[in-house]
Amino acid sequence: MGQIIKGKVAYITGAGSGIGRATALEFAKEGMHIGLIARTESKLQEVAEKASLHGVKTSIAVADISSQQEVDKAVSKLEKELGTADILLNNAGIGAHGGILEMDPETWRRTFEVNVFGTYYVTRAVLPGMIEKNQGDIINISSSNGLKATAGSTSYSASKFAIQGMTEALMQEVRKNNIRVFTLNPSLVATELAFGDELEDQDKEKFMQPEDLAEYMVAQLKLHPRIFIKQSLQWATNPF
Ligand SMILES: NC(=O)c1ccc[n+]([C@@H]2O[C@H](COP(=O)([O-])OP(=O)(O)OC[C@H]3O[C@@H](n4cnc5c(N)ncnc54)[C@H](OP(=O)(O)O)[C@@H]3O)[C@@H](O)[C@H]2O)c1
Repeated sequence: MGQIIKGKVAYITGAGSGIGRATALEFAKEGMHIGLIARTESKLQEVAEKASLHGVKTSIAVADISSQQEVDKAVSKLEKELGTADILLNNAGIGAHGGILEMDPETWRRTFEVNVFGTYYVTRAVLPGMIEKNQGDIINISSSNGLKATAGSTSYSASKFAIQGMTEALMQEVRKNNIRVFTLNPSLVATELAFGDELEDQDKEKFMQPEDLAEYMVAQLKLHPRIFIKQSLQWATNPF
């Protein structure tokens, strides 16, 4: 029998929109209690209210994940209100596009501060609870760009490649604690990050939906704890 996820506690970063929001709602539908982290409180509240209709516990914590202090405070709040995490979805991230000479160093640095340091801070805060329980799942959202870079993505691709290295190293480190650590590497998903203001103009059905990834994650979490898919790449069938 696979892992029973009903009743587990999941923390999700970037839970106010896109992939994080869809996954929070899907996890709640599966009976998981959810802790939500992002910077915009109103969006987190909306997701929490919708999720709680499934009869699960919810908790929100406003934090910029690039600040270790804010992350530590947020994780403490979630732990107090929900208990320590069984599942951590490191999803919060920002995009950045532009040639290496065009992009200003501040934007380049910020991509790393959020995508890499943010993921590191959250993981560092959540991991002790999992080690204590001797079980857990950490899902890191990298990108197809974190496996194969494209022109104009030096900061974004480098940050997402860094996630692969961090994931692989941590996975080797905590296997002995029965903690599974793995990446999902989606190609284009119909969210604001990918399409910005043009999202509403797209024929969205052609692209992968955040809900598709949410269902994918649920399926993976339901695998027996002795097995996991340590890296996977999600593509849309026919986005042309
Ligand atoms: N969409 C795609 O095509 C695609 C493809 C591959 C990988 N990804 C990855 O998937 C993840 C989610 O992307 P998405 O498309 O769902 O984007 P999205 O709709 O823009 O959502 C991003 C979420 O992250 C939060 N966030 C951003 N910066 C943050 C910070 N400094 N601290 C805390 N929270 C922060 C945002 O909320 P606040 O602004 O309120 O903080 C929001 O909830 C990202 O890591 C992205 O790189 C996306």
